[in-house]
Amino acid sequence: MTEQVSPARAIHGVVSVPGDKSISHRYAMLASIAEGDSQIFNYSTGADCHSTLTCMEALGIRHTTGEQDGRSVLTIHGKGATGLSAAADRLDAGNSGSTIRMLSGILAAQPFTTRITGDESLVKRPMRRIMMPLAEMNARIEATNGDFPPLTIHGAALRGIDYALPVASAQVKSCVLLAGLYAKGETVVREPVVTRDHTELALRELGADIAMEPRVVRLQGGARLQGKTLFVPGDLSSAAFFLVAALIAREADLIITNVGLNPTRTALLDVLRGMGANIKLLHIEQANGELVGNLQIQTSRIRGGTIEGATTAAVIDEIPVLAVLGAVSEDGLVVRNASELRVKETDRIETIAENLRRMQITVNTTPDGLEIPGRQKFHGAQIQSRGDHRIAMAFSVASLAADSPSMIEDSEAASVSFPEFYTTLRNIAR
Ligand code: S3P
Repeated sequence: MTEQVSPARAIHGVVSVPGDKSISHRYAMLASIAEGDSQIFNYSTGADCHSTLTCMEALGIRHTTGEQDGRSVLTIHGKGATGLSAAADRLDAGNSGSTIRMLSGILAAQPFTTRITGDESLVKRPMRRIMMPLAEMNARIEATNGDFPPLTIHGAALRGIDYALPVASAQVKSCVLLAGLYAKGETVVREPVVTRDHTELALRELGADIAMEPRVVRLQGGARLQGKTLFVPGDLSSAAFFLVAALIAREADLIITNVGLNPTRTALLDVLRGMGANIKLLHIEQANGELVGNLQIQTSRIRGGTIEGATTAAVIDEIPVLAVLGAVSEDGLVVRNASELRVKETDRIETIAENLRRMQITVNTTPDGLEIPGRQKFHGAQIQSRGDHRIAMAFSVASLAADSPSMIEDSEAASVSFPEFYTTLRNIAR
């Protein structure tokens, strides 16, 4: 599909975003291996989180959807740690790296063999990063060319390990922790920089014996998780598109409600504020150990800046849309230490640069980043999302600041994380 996005002068309104993608995956997987039912409110509407549900279904876990107090609720009928059954066919994780990498941790501990694969993007994404620690824990996994899906996971009795992550990855950390739930003894994961801790918080919430210190997590194997009612906060990484839409508009006053504000995710807000953004946090509460609140964003003067080191890892999903902001900022944006961008849904260093250039923006790429001079003007263009949801959405936002309409090719990619994106964007753009 192709979506036309026209320039907008102002961004106004009160909007919500889908449930957090990262948290939704974790709640669905953990509720499946917990005992009894879990009711999950605001589960992500994105295709990725649907992929997790279909994988769990193929492993024998039923879910139902319904309404409670006017809100949609997903009920997962958990069967406990030993309740999964062998899938009849190979599992399909679709476009979702989180599904294949995290679920592999659970599959590695099952008394059966599972094959799992995904779409044409997912089969190009590296899996050795999860295969290494799982092999150390005693699982046997085969991959195409030793690194890529389809994976064949031969489950085994696992042992706890003490693992230092070579790359900062919450997916890998989570994979090892999920395997650690089934392992004999203690599993320790050490990370080079802090990554999102939703798995740790969810494990604690459902009753696991887990201790969290800065960059070290310790989990005792053999816990029996209990199903419960869970609320998924709105996805800050989806909110990021509207935050930047507001910041590049000539006039803006926007409220985004019920957004997840877990401190391991809010580096985005620090980066935006560091660039000069006027963002306020309103009504902060806690739900299942996660912080949730409303964001208000108003017209701001955006200076520019540098994203590097631990900050890069903390805003990795938001870099496509931050690059858009960088081009219209006063001083431009430099992104460093971002080689992980090259192994996302697309090589995002290249897909960002390609589409900036299509919009007549000057950009320089480096092996691990981007250099984007400031004070540039977007021109309407044909955008190639290359099937990457965050590229489709980031360049829809850029199109708002262009001098003529843009056409977003493969615009439906947005539904991987945010099926309601274009409707919401149209509602706030004037
Ligand atoms: C995620 C972790 C990050 C992020 C991805 C979701 C997660 O990936 O980019 O969108 O839910 O744990 P990595 O673990 O590969 O850094």
